[in-house]
Amino acid sequence: MAKRKKIAAGNWKMNMGYEEGRILARKVVDGVVRSDVTVILGVPFIHLKSMENILGGISNIHVAAQNCHQEEGGAYTGEISASHLTSVGTSYVILGHSERREYFGEGAALLAKKTDIVLKHGMKPIFCCGENLEIREKGTHVKLVSKQIKDALFHLSDEDFRKVVIAYEPIWAIGTGVTASAQQAQDMHKDIRALIAKKYGAETADLTSILYGGSVKPANAKELFAMPDVDGGLVGGASLKAGDFTQIVAAF
Ligand code: 13P
Repeated sequence: MAKRKKIAAGNWKMNMGYEEGRILARKVVDGVVRSDVTVILGVPFIHLKSMENILGGISNIHVAAQNCHQEEGGAYTGEISASHLTSVGTSYVILGHSERREYFGEGAALLAKKTDIVLKHGMKPIFCCGENLEIREKGTHVKLVSKQIKDALFHLSDEDFRKVVIAYEPIWAIGTGVTASAQQAQDMHKDIRALIAKKYGAETADLTSILYGGSVKPANAKELFAMPDVDGGLVGGASLKAGDFTQIVAAF
């Protein structure tokens, strides 16, 4: 049996003001009944410090940033560094989300650097990959996702790779209400795990948590999480409602 973590991660994206976010996080803390699921709240930077206080001491609930600059520090006005993040107790960083790839031009070379600095500072990357509808319809989605993973992550040592969480997020399923079927998610996750096994060996592949993201809701989470290679979800819209998100946490 694989010992890899079951993970329910929320990605609040650019939502939730300071007070709203605190209320939501408190409700999530109160509503999470599972201690065997790693719960991660991916919050805007303004929330990181107060999350440390709200989530502090609960061993299976963690906070993630949604981005991190690739340099240690210096004259990069408006950016947030890895040491900024660790100074407020951040343990995970979402990297390579399709919205950052699309709107901020983030590609493999940059994501490789961001991955390195996040790991160097002792945090864990949640590395997103996924194809758009055109690629899916062409049937080259496995090739594209494999390339995204190889180009940004396969320079890592085995020890470092084991700290990475993969999130497969087909762009056509993000925020659209159209979820990949459980079988479509399983097929891609199985291929991703095989790719990891080929590079790092079966044990590392077996230990890597691979999350599905794209319109995960209480109504479909159970079926998705029941798939042998789907180790959890990266949840956007439904993570903004405490009731929905805690139901998703309970769906494993
Ligand atoms: P939705 O759950 O809103 O489709 O968003 C998915 C996502 O992008 C999570 O990172």
